[in-house]
Amino acid sequence: MSQFRFINSSAASEVRIYRNSGDACKAAAELIVELVQKKNDARLGLATGSTPIPVYQELVRQHQAGSVAFSQVQTFNLDEYYPISPLSDQSYRWFMNHHLFKHINIPANQTHVLDGTVPASFADQHAVDFESWIHQAGGLDLQLLGIGRNGHIGFNEPFEASVESACNLPTRLVELHPVTRADAAPAFGGLENVPTHALTVGTRAILNARRILILAFGANKADAVKASLTGPPVSTVPASLLQMRADRVVWMLDEAAAAGLNS
Ligand code: F6R
Repeated sequence: MSQFRFINSSAASEVRIYRNSGDACKAAAELIVELVQKKNDARLGLATGSTPIPVYQELVRQHQAGSVAFSQVQTFNLDEYYPISPLSDQSYRWFMNHHLFKHINIPANQTHVLDGTVPASFADQHAVDFESWIHQAGGLDLQLLGIGRNGHIGFNEPFEASVESACNLPTRLVELHPVTRADAAPAFGGLENVPTHALTVGTRAILNARRILILAFGANKADAVKASLTGPPVSTVPASLLQMRADRVVWMLDEAAAAGLNS
């Protein structure tokens, strides 16, 4: 593993580059285990997608080996398609149950995932409530993130705005970016089946997490990683906004995703 601070004009971000994604995911799981061992009621912000699956496998392994208990932990997931049933295997509620929650000793009512079944007229209120639950729980001790090819974090998609307002986005219903929908098409059996909308935790709650781990693997993430770390913080590359909290952020990359940092 090589580790360094990537310094650009606005921030010094901690970057760790691993030989492969498996090593990076083990290291990410280790950081989460250490946190929960120290603070057994840790508040974890969790991500879905292909990137963190091995992290969850390692957390399950460590739990089954008796190294870590989750009975006091609370989790808050980043996002959920809208509308979607939690019983659908494309839903993020299903994903979390399948990859993590059902294998560890966390009570169901301590796992929070935005609800893709709320009526449209309540979606905004549900999003407000969800963010207030994070707040009432004392905020997030750790936020795990992946990154979209378009630089999104959660489903905070690229858009034109000032950095200040882009860092202050509330939890809300959003329209998905065409790149995000295209990337989700295989899982939904075709673009026409991908929801056009999603509920997402906003940048405000993400950036308030006391520690932020962002994972990116593979050559198809290299451009987004490069733009996020080497360019200025801009709303059109949402992960670049992490520079505004560089002291809390650790980028965990494989060599392919880090390729653009050398050039
Ligand atoms: C998922 C999420 C997204 C993903 C991103 C990368 O909860 O918040 O931002 O992290 O789209 O997805 P994968 O890991 O599938 O490449």
